[in-house]
Amino acid sequence: MAPKKGDAETWKPRLAQGKDVLVKHVTEGFNAMPARGLCMDCTAEDYAAVIDWMSKP
Ligand code: HEM
Repeated sequence: MAPKKGDAETWKPRLAQGKDVLVKHVTEGFNAMPARGLCMDCTAEDYAAVIDWMSKP
């Protein structure tokens, strides 16, 4: 059920929450989304970069 790369329809409402909320959800976990995306040494900047990459076509 994870949002897929480039799936604009799935990413649109998520991006609308704002980048800070998305980074917070990655860091703390969100429903079936595991805390830290299972990357224990990733930084907030790393998460923001992955979110950018995942949400673009
Ligand atoms: C660094 C790696 C990862 C990043 C940056 C990332 C990022 C995100 C973001 C931004 C969301 C949307 C949160 C929201 O709607 O507020 C999400 C949702 C989700 N992610 Fe990840 N993710 C990562 C790794 C993973 C992994 C490893 C899994 C599964 C093993 C996973 C499973 C999910 C699922 C199931 C959702 C949907 C949660 C829901 O809407 O109920 N993610 N992820």
